[in-house]
Amino acid sequence: MKTKIPKAALVAALVAGICPVTVFAAEVRHDFWPGRDKVIPHVSGDEQFSNTYRYWKDEMSLDAAVTAGLMSHEMNYKDFRWREKSLEGEMLLGEGQELFNTANEQGQSCASCHGADGKELEGTYARMPKYNERLKRVVVGPTQIRICAEERLGRKDWGEDTRPNTLLAFYLASLSDGEIIDVDVNAPGPVKDSYERGRDLFFKRVGHFHFACASCHTPPSSGNYLRGQRPTTFFGDAAQYPIYHFPYQLAGDNLSYIFTMQHQIRSCQQLSRMYQGREGSAPMTDIETFLRASANGYPISVPVSEYNMNTDYLERSQQVSSQ
Ligand code: HEC
Ligand code: HEC
Repeated sequence: MKTKIPKAALVAALVAGICPVTVFAAEVRHDFWPGRDKVIPHVSGDEQFSNTYRYWKDEMSLDAAVTAGLMSHEMNYKDFRWREKSLEGEMLLGEGQELFNTANEQGQSCASCHGADGKELEGTYARMPKYNERLKRVVVGPTQIRICAEERLGRKDWGEDTRPNTLLAFYLASLSDGEIIDVDVNAPGPVKDSYERGRDLFFKRVGHFHFACASCHTPPSSGNYLRGQRPTTFFGDAAQYPIYHFPYQLAGDNLSYIFTMQHQIRSCQQLSRMYQGREGSAPMTDIETFLRASANGYPISVPVSEYNMNTDYLERSQQVSSQ
């Protein structure tokens, strides 16, 4: 039997449903999530936000925090996302290295210009994104890789979100392992402009849920549970990217579970019901410039893993319970 809902009830339900939304919308005064004016382009800027920086500012502080029994979210996850290298990730670096040295039909490879195994690119990842004079635009690592592949090797299908590009970015970042991140956003110019636009995008509320990136990645959200995970404060995140992300990937991915920064941003946009940017596009580049400069002063650590697969804690709890 078909039940007919009376029109009046439907209207009443709609009004009841809509009313709180309207009231809420009227109360939203901020186009931007608070905090935009407090950020500085240095990892220590976290002191103005979560104030957990003292636990993860360097390896010694992390060792002390781990010994004191602090939990990962209190260390901005640096206890394993930065301090512990990933063996699985390490095994994938070889694939990037091989792509780097593999010649095209004309006998040219990345190595022809940048030295065998990328010797001459050591350390450069710590200063990406950069302004490319020739192209008159700021480029993130994967965009520079796409451009070099396309223009100089005739490889048209090594775009930012492809497997060869991602493996190469992962490998090149590993050549800067230990280098202090130093993206100059203080000198006036295109990189500073990109940083400021990226900062605004990070704090701007958008999308279906009216969230900003900052809604989740600043306190009180950061460090607390959201969609089953605890988001980090954004300071220092970029130091471990690209990152080995097993077992999570986006539908259709074929990237050996490696996430570049661009890919991570897209993943967050998707999960937060925001419009997903195209990897390497101007706004996505700006967000990455902002995140990279927010890691200034922190050393790159690649390859590391997004998730901690270490089960030592089970043994530790067993030891405790048998005491
Ligand atoms: C024919 C020479 C040539 C080849 C081949 C080449 N590049 Fe480049 N590469 C350049 C030049 C020149 C630049 C400077 C920026 C520009 O003009 O695009 C550069 C810049 C770069 C940079 C930035 C370096 C910095 O100091 O900021 C990276 C990273 C890079 N290339 C990676 C690659 C990779 C990966 C490949 C292989 C897919 C590759 N390149 C192939 C010539 C080359
Ligand atoms: C609804 C909450 C939410 C929003 C909004 C959100 N994120 Fe995330 N983000 C998360 C969670 C949860 C994770 C996974 C836990 C973690 O690693 O922080 C994450 C992970 C990340 C990471 C990886 C951190 C790390 O330590 O590896 C970066 C970088 C990031 N997000 C950037 C962004 C950017 C940029 C935006 C805006 C486009 C954004 N996020 C929006 C919740 C959010």
